[in-house]
Amino acid sequence: MEHRREIRFLLNDATVVLDAVAAEDTLLEFLRLTRRLTGTKEGCAEGDCGACTVLVGRIAAGELVYEPVNACIRLLPSLDGCHVVTVEHLADAVGGLHPVQDAMVADHGSQCGFCTPGVVMALAALRVTTPAPSEDEIETALQGNLCRCTGYAPIVRAALAACHEDRRKDSLVSGRAAALARLRALRDGRRAEVGRDDSHAILPADVDDLAAVLAAHPDATVVAGATDVGLWITKGMRRISPAVFIGHLDGLRQVETEAGGLRIGAGATYTEAEGPLCSSFPHLRDYLSRIAGWQVRNMGTIGGNIANGSPIGDMPPVLIALGAELTLRQGDKRRALPLEDYFLDYGKQDRAPGEFVESVFVPKPTPGAVHAAYKVSKRRDEDISSVAAAFNVTLQDGKISAARIAFGGMAATPRRATAAEAALIGASWVEDSLIAAAAELPADFTPITDWRASSTYRMTVAQNLFRRFWLEHAEGADTVRLHRAAEGVE
Ligand code: FAD
Ligand code: FES
Ligand code: FES
Repeated sequence: MEHRREIRFLLNDATVVLDAVAAEDTLLEFLRLTRRLTGTKEGCAEGDCGACTVLVGRIAAGELVYEPVNACIRLLPSLDGCHVVTVEHLADAVGGLHPVQDAMVADHGSQCGFCTPGVVMALAALRVTTPAPSEDEIETALQGNLCRCTGYAPIVRAALAACHEDRRKDSLVSGRAAALARLRALRDGRRAEVGRDDSHAILPADVDDLAAVLAAHPDATVVAGATDVGLWITKGMRRISPAVFIGHLDGLRQVETEAGGLRIGAGATYTEAEGPLCSSFPHLRDYLSRIAGWQVRNMGTIGGNIANGSPIGDMPPVLIALGAELTLRQGDKRRALPLEDYFLDYGKQDRAPGEFVESVFVPKPTPGAVHAAYKVSKRRDEDISSVAAAFNVTLQDGKISAARIAFGGMAATPRRATAAEAALIGASWVEDSLIAAAAELPADFTPITDWRASSTYRMTVAQNLFRRFWLEHAEGADTVRLHRAAEGVE
């Protein structure tokens, strides 16, 4: 089948067909500079502030799902087959304000107004995804939206009012069937290739085609959610051509239960992986809510977090502690390796040119396992870890029979604390055993000092997390001591 030389998507009510698209073009530039849809703002251009929030609708399991995303780091080629909704499109069928906009006016949710379109888009998405949200759910939905002048109380009040109104009035709900039919008509199952000047983007037809494309272009940049790659462009002015986009590949986004555990496709986003992961590992719910904000979690993938090999990526320590196995694919060849073996050194991973991460397999919890995952960062929300830790300890007859403990932010790669693990195995499940294991940490790690945290801070926090783990999981834990320990008072 001949390749398609254009991308096609819906922008509000219009069908957009583009052929001259560079791999580095962002959605925000397209909206503001080409389409003059200037309601979508640029604040930070790095996915942090949410001023650029738009909704992207995509077909998932036959349904049209709308998610808020950051237009500033969303790359234009990735929108093939999607419905982009900007703030200009929210007004209801009779031309009035959207219920969220109405509520923002009534509850004084806006002052300078710079953040307001982004806040409105996040809340409009919440309104369709989460009927009658709690205040906690509203706060989580707004993690990725910074407002510097109004303050969040009136915005949350507006959200409570708008999200409890009748959703049938919402054009995102009433127009969904028509939009779904239009999106289906745009799909043709072909590979798409577009370019401008010397920059090219390839969207493979399926996962087998991805393998073929990467075999032909082994040095191409793989782009999944672009929540790392987007910043190379907006902040680093880097060129990524030729770029192979994979976010649209349903075959990479599956999250499936298998006999021995859970297989997460490399292209599954945090949002997609959260439900299945947390149903096997409930301790991850809070941890996952600490990764970025809603918009980034809707784009960023588990595979991207692993593949980029960052020492402070939040998923690798958790997945290493759970004993995860990575599957890499090159052409028709697949190989599996323990996730911890993938990270060779700073910026160096065990991945050959033309090879890609296909999936990660997380084994079922073993009987008697006690799990915990902790993220320590300067801010609770939207911040990168200074230290991340994950514990997976198996208890048998009051003794520790197995231990997998992994850290991020403590070395050049995410790594297991093997000396601390050895100190635990065979020891009794008592506080002293955890303290003795923590004392072994300097044998495992010599953390660096950087602007996020000093070496001493990192080591102290990491050792304290052993105590926190004990205090939270020992029967009859004393909550006063727990809080004091968590705050580093003890
Ligand atoms: P991309 O940006 O598309 O790619 C990242 C790298 O992986 C690139 O080198 C790419 O070529 C490669 N790659 C992607 N998929 C594959 C594949 N299948 N095979 C081979 N190579 C591949 N990270 C955290 O860990 N914790 C946070 O709290 C956090 N907060 C963030 C907040 C903001 C505002 C932003 C912008 C980012 C944040 N990140 C955070 C970083 C980022 O969101 C994650 O690392 C994310 O998981 C990357 O996934 P992606 O799909 O966007 O990867
Ligand atoms: Fe700040 Fe996009 S402009 S998140
Ligand atoms: Fe001014 Fe939010 S209203 S930044």
